Amino acid sequence: MSLAVATEVAVSPEASRRRTFAIISHPDAGKTTLTEKFLLYAGAVAEAGAVKARAGRRRATSDWMALEQERGVSITSTVLQFTYRDHVVNLLDTPGHRDFSEDTYRVLSAADAAIMVLDVAKGIEAQTLKLFEVCRTRSLPVLTFFNKYDRPGRDPLELLDEIEAQIGLRPTPVTWPVGIPGDFRGVIDRRDGSFIRYRRTAHGATTALEERMDAQRAAVEEGEAWRVAREATELLDEVGATLQLDSFLAGESSPLFVGSALTNFGVRHLLDAIVDLAPSARPRADDAGVLRPLDAPFSGFVFKIQANMDPAHRDHVAFVRVCSGRFVRGMTLVHGPSGRPFSTKYAASMFGSARDTIDVAYPGDAIGLVNASGLQIGDTLYEGEPVAYPPIATFAPELFASVRPRDTARHKQFHRGLAQLEREGVVQVLRDPDGDPTPVLAAVGAMQFEVFVHRLADEFGAEAELVPAPYKAARRTDRATSEHLRAVPGVRTLARADGTLLALFDSPYRLQRVEQDHPEWCLDPVLQGPESG
Ligand code: G4P
Repeated sequence: MSLAVATEVAVSPEASRRRTFAIISHPDAGKTTLTEKFLLYAGAVAEAGAVKARAGRRRATSDWMALEQERGVSITSTVLQFTYRDHVVNLLDTPGHRDFSEDTYRVLSAADAAIMVLDVAKGIEAQTLKLFEVCRTRSLPVLTFFNKYDRPGRDPLELLDEIEAQIGLRPTPVTWPVGIPGDFRGVIDRRDGSFIRYRRTAHGATTALEERMDAQRAAVEEGEAWRVAREATELLDEVGATLQLDSFLAGESSPLFVGSALTNFGVRHLLDAIVDLAPSARPRADDAGVLRPLDAPFSGFVFKIQANMDPAHRDHVAFVRVCSGRFVRGMTLVHGPSGRPFSTKYAASMFGSARDTIDVAYPGDAIGLVNASGLQIGDTLYEGEPVAYPPIATFAPELFASVRPRDTARHKQFHRGLAQLEREGVVQVLRDPDGDPTPVLAAVGAMQFEVFVHRLADEFGAEAELVPAPYKAARRTDRATSEHLRAVPGVRTLARADGTLLALFDSPYRLQRVEQDHPEWCLDPVLQGPESG
């Protein structure tokens, strides 16, 4: 057997062991706690102690890096890998809170599934909604977790309605709570009708005690709480809200689990669902829609670029999602857009501030290529038969600021920096093709502007002055529509370097009005991606 054949044999089984997903949630819904508990259940940490120094964590730029400092465990700033039931789970971090940015969206392009974590007292919140929209554009399968059931919250049936009404995703509860929020006894496993009683352990430090029993015993021991829960599940049976694998994989329905990350209730079910229900790494379509087999030679695409803000390590790390083949550190790949060879001598898995060299990776994994300043977001790297993956979808920015150099004598440095940071996707840069030459920066999170100003000064020696621009919403548009928009007050059309035209609106109401009055105009919230071309 030739070496090439041996490699082919090895890739598929490895890919099918991979589960690569991201958590989408609103700040404080419990993403960090759940992540920590996944590690506990996977045996990656022995004990999840009460999380200390919360105040400190709040100030940190990345949840996971701070969590790492607190907990002394290795948590990467971008991807966390652990094994569970002989599967390799890659949990991709979607930056939250303060560091919400376009990266948050891009990371989802590298995931094969998502877990939507909702606080049972709050339901769907703004940030979850935005992230869910990204999942929808990719038809990404979404598992839902109702978190914080250990404390008072809303009626779970009402929450199901809310999910369906607000985001059009059909929740199909796999487990259903027994006891009201705040008096949470356990769950009915709807797959066999049994009851799983949870018992908390001190501070949720060790895995929750679970006792499984049949319905008769549960009815005797749980009385009214059991009766109410059964009534609800009968209702769910009647309306057909039961697990459907096909529609889950198509991103239409969402298996739902109930629990409390803090007390570990329901964490095991969720982790089991990742292994049992979520898809493994599958062949990915190239920009012509052709699937590249998993066993084909290596290919992957850059989904995130992280430039270290620490002046001691001024480097660029390009995160690549492996799509096919086996990655072996040191292999020379082809950089798709330029056709040039690319050496992977410096490949790493990013573990917070420390880095581990990564030697081998398979479809589903994410690798960090260090000092990869020639790479841009969306670039394909491959070996053998050429392939190009479709561009990563970008979404309508919501924050705008015009920018100019503080010191006009440094305008050269300013423009060089602007061009570089634009290429890296730190911010979007918009220009008026036939008007005011002052560029307008656009972003989805304020931190993108902070990073931009910092890096422009630090790396290019150009202090920039940012003035908030009076726009509140943007949509991708086309030439014909932009001609019409000229006549609409409070609207301006600008262009990105890649030619995408963006219509900026001075208020969300103006946008709403224009959309209502002219449904035939091109106003798309997805700026670029496989669907919108
Ligand atoms: P995030 O990463 O999504 O922002 O959320 P994180 O895990 O940091 O959780 C936010 C807060 O919610 C934390 O409280 C955390 O302990 C709490 N929490 C997470 N899961 C549960 C749960 O299942 N039940 C309950 N009751 N609480 C949960 P905190 O920051 O320590 O304090 P505070 O915000 O309560 O003051």
